[in-house]
Amino acid sequence: MDKIVNRRFLAIIGGFALLAAMPVVSAQAKGIPQVININTQVNMASIKGLPRDRKHVNSFSHAQHAKVYLKGKEKYSTYPYTDAFTCSACHPGAKSAEALLSADPAATLGAALDKAGGSKKLMKYFHNICRQCHKKVKKAGIASGPTNCNGCHGRK
Ligand code: HEC
Ligand code: HEC
Ligand code: HEC
Repeated sequence: MDKIVNRRFLAIIGGFALLAAMPVVSAQAKGIPQVININTQVNMASIKGLPRDRKHVNSFSHAQHAKVYLKGKEKYSTYPYTDAFTCSACHPGAKSAEALLSADPAATLGAALDKAGGSKKLMKYFHNICRQCHKKVKKAGIASGPTNCNGCHGRK
């Protein structure tokens, strides 16, 4: 192949590669977030009446909780869920994964906070979900998550 044909050939191959990659990218964008930093004041500033930002939780293993850790642990949860639909353990009242993924996260959390006593109760809301489950699972003698403050708030 001479240089020009070669370049055209590469451009065509490149075009196909892009086309092939596109559906993968959009499927990932729609998928459940793998790891997230939980800092409501920073991430969801549109929620009204939040307390002053004092703490956050870095590198929360979101997908690992939803797909692995929560399986078989319904009885330790503050909010009801099933092994087939774990989302509602931490997104109280959620109807489906699809609904959660297509909604505005701040609107979803804002509504959940309202139901749980208002956005001033941010700490209580999250401790009720996260720390309560860890405490109960630990008490049952099963591998659990942190219950001490630094275990959640001191993470990189
Ligand atoms: C063990 C707790 C837990 C489980 C289970 C869980 N999530 Fe989450 N998720 C969170 C937390 C905490 C946040 C950040 C604060 C918030 O939005 O409530 C979050 C945020 C999200 C967000 C918004 C992400 C962003 O960009 O801000 C989506 C979408 C989401 N979760 C979907 C899901 C779906 C779908 C499931 C079930 C397959 C699920 N979650 C299961 C705890 C959980
Ligand atoms: C219904 C129970 C349940 C809920 C709700 C829950 N967890 Fe956990 N979490 C677990 C279990 C069980 C483990 C340990 C799994 C293992 O090691 O096998 C764990 C592990 C962890 C760990 C350490 C391991 C890792 O992957 O980083 C952290 C940090 C953690 N959870 C944070 C949180 C936070 C923050 C929330 C709330 C947004 C939360 N968890 C909600 C059950 C729960
Ligand atoms: C299992 C995880 C976990 C443990 C253990 C934990 N917390 Fe939290 N805490 C959270 C999460 C998640 C939030 C919500 C953070 C956010 O949205 O910015 C939170 C919020 C807070 C807030 C409010 C932060 C703010 O910016 O408004 C304070 C204060 C706090 N925790 C203190 C503590 C103290 C003190 C301890 C120990 C006695 C502790 N936490 C243990 C997960 C945990």
